[in-house]
Amino acid sequence: MQSVINLVLFVTLLYNTNAENGQLPSYMKKCELKDGFDECVKTQIEKSLPLFTKGIPELGVPSTDPVILDDIAINGNGLNLSFTNAAMHGLSKCRLTQLKVDIGNEEEVFDLAFKGDLSLTAKYNIDGRILILPIVGDGDALVTAQNIEVNIQSKLAHVKDNKGQNHLKLVTPNYKYDIQRTIFDLKNLFNGNKELAKTTLTFANENWRQLMDDLSPPIIKQIVRTVVKAINKFFSKVPISNMISGYN
Ligand SMILES: *[C@@H]1O[C@H](CO)[C@@H](O)[C@H](O)[C@H]1NC(C)=O
Repeated sequence: MQSVINLVLFVTLLYNTNAENGQLPSYMKKCELKDGFDECVKTQIEKSLPLFTKGIPELGVPSTDPVILDDIAINGNGLNLSFTNAAMHGLSKCRLTQLKVDIGNEEEVFDLAFKGDLSLTAKYNIDGRILILPIVGDGDALVTAQNIEVNIQSKLAHVKDNKGQNHLKLVTPNYKYDIQRTIFDLKNLFNGNKELAKTTLTFANENWRQLMDDLSPPIIKQIVRTVVKAINKFFSKVPISNMISGYN
């Protein structure tokens, strides 16, 4: 049932994006630049997040749920670990924990944070040691980062399109993140030796920070890059005047 609803929403979205004339998708409405502006933008984002994160193909807005990740390889500290065919799931179910759109001033900024559980699916290959314990294996991986919060802060620039209309653009975005806990589920460790796999996985999960110190930076970087790209693609299609009223 859920997938039917999703499909209907998706098809509705496809036919309502008004991509050609630079209008907001029908599920979003314009916000007026006055008191309560941030609240209005927040409502629009919250409302459209489940759809927006699926991507808007005809606007060139990439999917952010899942985010398809480049291969990740960590070599060093006595441990080699790689992920291929990796994808990050869950952004559409994250909640907005912070939103500030400071516009109309000399320097315009955009500050957004979201929080939720994100899970990585991939083929993994691991060889080396976690602290003292040897670990080796390859197979399917499911890595779940619980209650991860990502905060993106960016300056906003204005870019003119070929019709002379102004568009917003996120430039030089910064980000930070925090993870409450990570759970690794690595299938086929030690060639399928279940006893050894169980002990080692338990140890890995107790010492998850050790692994995530190396793993999360390249992953989060890619997630932020994709999110920024999606937002900028959207901005590049919809002029400011179609998103915000009362703004020069
Ligand atoms: C990790 O990879 C490096 C370079 O490919 C290699 O020299 C090293 O022996 C590997 N270490 C382990 C523990 O597999």
